[in-house]
Amino acid sequence: MILGPAARDARDLFAATIGGEPAGLWSAPGRVNLIGEHTDYNDGFVLPFAIDRRTYAAATRSAERRIRVASTLEAETVEVRLDELDLVFPDRREAVPEWARYPLGVASALLPERDADLPGVDVAIASDVPVGSGLSSSAAIECAVAAALDELWELDLDRIALARAGRLAENEAVGAPTGIMDQLAAMLGRADAAVFLDCRSLESEVIDLGFREQGLGTLVIDTGVTHSHATGGYRERREACEHGAAVMGVTALRDLSVDDLARAAELLDDASFRRVRHVVTENRRVLDTVEALRAHGPGTIGDLLLASHASMRDDFEISIPELDTAVETAVAAGAIGARMTGGGFGGAAIAVVPSESTKDVTDAVTEAFAASGFSAPRCFSVTPSDGARRDA
Ligand code: GLA
Repeated sequence: MILGPAARDARDLFAATIGGEPAGLWSAPGRVNLIGEHTDYNDGFVLPFAIDRRTYAAATRSAERRIRVASTLEAETVEVRLDELDLVFPDRREAVPEWARYPLGVASALLPERDADLPGVDVAIASDVPVGSGLSSSAAIECAVAAALDELWELDLDRIALARAGRLAENEAVGAPTGIMDQLAAMLGRADAAVFLDCRSLESEVIDLGFREQGLGTLVIDTGVTHSHATGGYRERREACEHGAAVMGVTALRDLSVDDLARAAELLDDASFRRVRHVVTENRRVLDTVEALRAHGPGTIGDLLLASHASMRDDFEISIPELDTAVETAVAAGAIGARMTGGGFGGAAIAVVPSESTKDVTDAVTEAFAASGFSAPRCFSVTPSDGARRDA
């Protein structure tokens, strides 16, 4: 396999900080969520796909019983002894720099999987997944490191167990109360396909997107507005959903259907009701999108993507003017559908675009941003790609 720049960066960083050749090179992709936003932690449905932007972990075993991590994004190398890895979990995590909590959190989550004496591990990380754009750069780090540790520690875990370790790192070590969509997408992605996930049972199905055959591509429009899910709006939305489920007497909002919304409107205050309505209708839209893809192909999903965006803008209130402008302009310039993707409050929108219109859409969005006084967006195409793997 020919290694791209980020893979070479990881190996070069390994040589510079740790020294010598790594035992192997593992990688995991970022993801785009086609539809199903804020449904994962409500036990619902999502339809993400892994993208052709990846994080690489060059790693090797070490005789010293500690994990040592280096990243091209940081000057310092961080090391923590294996018997002190719980350091990255709540209460003590402030002692570890935030960037290092992702890989060390994964190591900490995987540690109890094997009793025998584990060797230490040295790992150097490099990535071409944009950070803070809603493309799950964090899940890409977690899953690349999880794949590396699975082999180096001979754990032989399945992909779902590795995804769970990534999520645990995100929740406990980083402190972002996210669901499991991003890690499952990074683990289970397949070229030219999306992964249909039931976030309650964790059952998954690969769904052909048929974008290539239909001459369609996916354009990411990165607003450059960064966000953190460890603080603020994401957590509040999650709490609103838990409140809605409790008032409605169900385990999770997954257990409500569109028919329950009239009763929800009677029992809940206006804001809580709208949060609930987003999740309930979004679950329906994921199922409808899967059905549309299967029955008619991708040409018919545009309205569902737009309805999803409107629901996030009006009911869940997680969009921002830049994302609304991106979506409206993309569709006016020829996209068959568009929506913000990821947790919201910034990040990126995606547009499904006939290949011949990619330039028109990019130009139109760039001009609309300039006219509104927004910082220039970064537009780039992504293709649905394979999940975590060993590259060398
Ligand atoms: C972030 C989280 C995911 C999911 C999305 C919203 O990406 O990491 O678990 O909740 O937001 O759909």
